[in-house]
Amino acid sequence: MQTQLLREPRVAPSILSADFAQLSDQVGEVMDAGARVIHCDVMDGHFVPPITLGPLIVGSVADQVHGAGGMLDVHLMIERPERQIEEFAKAGADMITVHWEATPHVHYALQAVRETGCMAGLALTPATPAETIADVAGDVDNVLCMTVNPGWGGQPFIEHSIDKLGRLKALLPAGVPLEVDGGIDASTARRCHGAGATLFVAGSAVFGSADPGKAYLEIANAIGG
Ligand code: DX5
Ligand code: ZN
Repeated sequence: MQTQLLREPRVAPSILSADFAQLSDQVGEVMDAGARVIHCDVMDGHFVPPITLGPLIVGSVADQVHGAGGMLDVHLMIERPERQIEEFAKAGADMITVHWEATPHVHYALQAVRETGCMAGLALTPATPAETIADVAGDVDNVLCMTVNPGWGGQPFIEHSIDKLGRLKALLPAGVPLEVDGGIDASTARRCHGAGATLFVAGSAVFGSADPGKAYLEIANAIGG
């Protein structure tokens, strides 16, 4: 079951940095190396400038990921995400993460995700205070702390995130995963792990490498995953 996968520290390769002409092979490489959480970055050209992928691409790797005992971690960087939740759940998402900044109805959106049977994640951009989650801490199955500004892979890790992770951890019920996303490599993953993070998204550090499986393992070893 997917919730069990997140009980231990995990590296989640982000397909945003993969070669989409060989997406299945690339997903296979990291799963063969041990990855079980595949991160999908959905961008709409409004909440963030780029347009990336939608339910069709998520659905295209769903059988492969589930067949290998993995889960799909869908990160929605789109405005009014509550309008799209059903589509991503049907496509095979196991966890759907919405941005605090993308809807005036965060609680509703989280409930809507849970109603589909998916885990409900809440993401915060770097300027959104950790304390923001206080009144929904009991309604989230995951909190994603952006460690870069959302929109692009390959950006440098924002140092202030380490302090923020500690404050987020203190607000979250025990056992709720704390995800970091942006600028994660073996070194930043280790430091975020020390600050309380348990799920580590890595895009360019994995798929920008000539050997994505090896690159995945280097980060996984850094966090004991
Ligand atoms: C950025 C995305 C990230 C992205 C991270 O907005 O949410 O998931 O893939 O890329 P790296 O690991 O290259 O910073
Ligand atoms: Zn992401």
